Amino acid sequence: MTFEKLKNLEKEAQQCECCPLFATRNNIVFSDGSNKAKIMLIGEAPGADEDKLGKPFVGRAGKLLNEFLRSAGINRDEDLYIANTLKCRPPENRKPTKEEKKACEKFLQAQIEIIKPKIIVLCGATAMESFLDKKLKISKVRGQIFENIKGYEGIKFIPVLHPSYLLRQHSTEINSPRNLTLKDLIMIKNLIK
Ligand code: URA
Repeated sequence: MTFEKLKNLEKEAQQCECCPLFATRNNIVFSDGSNKAKIMLIGEAPGADEDKLGKPFVGRAGKLLNEFLRSAGINRDEDLYIANTLKCRPPENRKPTKEEKKACEKFLQAQIEIIKPKIIVLCGATAMESFLDKKLKISKVRGQIFENIKGYEGIKFIPVLHPSYLLRQHSTEINSPRNLTLKDLIMIKNLIK
């Protein structure tokens, strides 16, 4: 049933022309991972590699994300359901506009409703802004657990730094962005043990 609902939703997204991005996409990027996962990870939007392959987080940022997940003991294929705020690639990888996010939010909301995750990992500021107070700074609140979000009661939301940002931050010293991200992911892994 879950599988069918997700397949129908994905078909709907493939036909979607609700914002101008449909005209430049090669593929929609709907999801990856397990439909049974307790953790849903939400990124920003597909990049060039994702647009080409139709899968989220398969480019350079995705490879770094995979390394962090492995180090934290999180199995990408079994422990996670992965999606993005936008299903289509914004040209030149620019940030999604308010209009694009509005046009696409029905798909993400439906994915959450079907998957029913216990935890939503908000990967980067764009994903965080879609659910939490827009005034929050991800560098300040990463690793914190937000609960009782209107319409999403019972789900723990946890912002983490985006791997595209981590690609530019090489230090792994204590309290460096990479070190803190690994700590956040280990904490998340322990929540589902
Ligand atoms: N960055 C994202 O936020 N999502 C992807 O799928 C790839 C890169």
